[in-house]
Amino acid sequence: MEELKRKAAEKAVEAIEDGMVVGLGTGSTARYAILKLGEMVKGGLDIVGVATSLESERLAKEVGIKVADINDYDSIDITIDGADQVNGKLDLIKGGGGALLREKIVASCSKREIIVVDESKIVDDFSFPLPVEVVKFGWKRTADKLRQLGFNPRIRHGFITDNENYILDCEYERIKASKELEEEINNIPGVVENGLFIGLATEVIIGRKDGIEVMKRGY
Ligand code: 5RP
Repeated sequence: MEELKRKAAEKAVEAIEDGMVVGLGTGSTARYAILKLGEMVKGGLDIVGVATSLESERLAKEVGIKVADINDYDSIDITIDGADQVNGKLDLIKGGGGALLREKIVASCSKREIIVVDESKIVDDFSFPLPVEVVKFGWKRTADKLRQLGFNPRIRHGFITDNENYILDCEYERIKASKELEEEINNIPGVVENGLFIGLATEVIIGRKDGIEVMKRGY
């Protein structure tokens, strides 16, 4: 599986050119993209990275990538990030690594959002528990409201996000992956952001045992 993740990540990196502002995703698949970009920077590639987590920022700096504050750029040329699940419409569940808030901010400012996954992440219907970032104050009451929407939320024990919040991993029987549901969850007081990424990915690169598959959003 590691080999499939690496293949997908390294394919995505081929889109990166001199002078670009590059969003650096979080997780074990995005990590391969950061490592490859580091090699390319050592070979002369001139880019600026915008990290989606403190962990990715640390890794990027370690491999020699310049890291900038997202506030210093109006937009990001290309972001390369992972996902926990991807459906046929290129909608995603993200946040398994707990970085969904910064990942969504960066994705929403990116001209191209390239998602890199191994083939096990491609599904017809989502089943991965939906990560929801919530403020600490009143988190049990926020969990009650998520229950009213049909979720079974569990606190991610011992985990604090880069933004000093908690994550509730929300199990469900079925969810309709839609902008309406994404907004409904975010309308609950105490919710900061949730891991449904609807309409944000422009491309998904899938590492398969028999090669690479690229899915592109139809505009
Ligand atoms: C972090 C994420 C990751 O992209 C997602 O969890 C996938 O990670 P991995 O590549 O390790 O499977 O959303 O918040």
